[in-house]
Amino acid sequence: MKILGIETSCDETAAAIVEDGSRIISNVVASQIDIHARYGGVVPEVASRQHLLTIIPVIQQATSGVSWQDIDGIAVTFGPGLAGSLLVGVNVAKGIALAKRIPIIGINHLEAHIYANWLDSSSHNEEGRVKFPCLCLVVSGGHSDLVLMKGHGQLEKLGRTRDDAAGEAFDKAARILGLGYPGGPAIEQAAHSGIPCLHLPRAWLKESNDFSFSGLKTALWHLVHKGDISVGDVAASFQLAIVDVLVDKTIEAAKQLKVEQILLSGGVAANKMLREHFIANSPMPVLIPPPQLCTDNAAMVAACGYYNFQSGKIIGYDLDVVPSLSFG
Ligand code: KG4
Ligand code: ZN
Repeated sequence: MKILGIETSCDETAAAIVEDGSRIISNVVASQIDIHARYGGVVPEVASRQHLLTIIPVIQQATSGVSWQDIDGIAVTFGPGLAGSLLVGVNVAKGIALAKRIPIIGINHLEAHIYANWLDSSSHNEEGRVKFPCLCLVVSGGHSDLVLMKGHGQLEKLGRTRDDAAGEAFDKAARILGLGYPGGPAIEQAAHSGIPCLHLPRAWLKESNDFSFSGLKTALWHLVHKGDISVGDVAASFQLAIVDVLVDKTIEAAKQLKVEQILLSGGVAANKMLREHFIANSPMPVLIPPPQLCTDNAAMVAACGYYNFQSGKIIGYDLDVVPSLSFG
């Protein structure tokens, strides 16, 4: 079964074809990073206009080696994300579905991130290796969610961020440090030239599975405005503070829940230190997609679509965008 995935929730225009929920046949991502970098962050109006320009060429490229008759379904992200950006993907998907008579399904972008773990381009993660129940940490620019997954379509949100998401904290910290956008890769790069020797607070929120990163960001602001600091040391200390909290809280919850595995996903899961600390500290297997499948892409949307189609979830042409969509 071949699914065409379409993703336009933020600043990546993406289309992919995935077979049987795991084999990537094509995976095209047109990033708008260069366009938004000069503004220090994503400008929604600019993003939606850029999606309009690139969506058709991106889909043409992704589908070039496949006949439309062989595509069994179209999976498109309908939330959460920027309304104007989501609208482009959803309406193009509806247009193609109608013209080619292919069933369509709306996909939750956060659930799609988790399904990057099913894609078999990950060497440590052949299909079938995911075992339920598993605990999923989804860390992206807008979300830091802990989700218990008991089976396909059985997702229960256990924790979230109470303020900034992990990726958002990286982006804001990089801005304070004058390191540019997106902040995660910029901080990771700067951290190579420093050591994590500076004290920064960690919000443990002990009796809860929630996260909080805004206090850390404020502490960083004060540190920087005191002056006379090494950017490398601040970046390394900030990165370690985020990694410590994400790793400790997730592993603690996974032990209590007695899950089989931990699944990481979302753009922040591309962070090398986060990946290494999870693998070094977890008593249970940790699955992490390769970095290019952690950040936004449409292969994960198609993989998620496959499992939704399998369970008979098909929707009509009244599909609309839901910018504030959550789990459950
Ligand atoms: O999942 P994603 O591509 O888009 C959203 O759904 O938001 O995540 C983007 C976020 C950005 O905040 C970016 O700074 C962060 O992921 N990110 C990273 C790294 N690569 C991307 N954060 C830390 N380390 C990285 N290497
Ligand atoms: Zn994302």
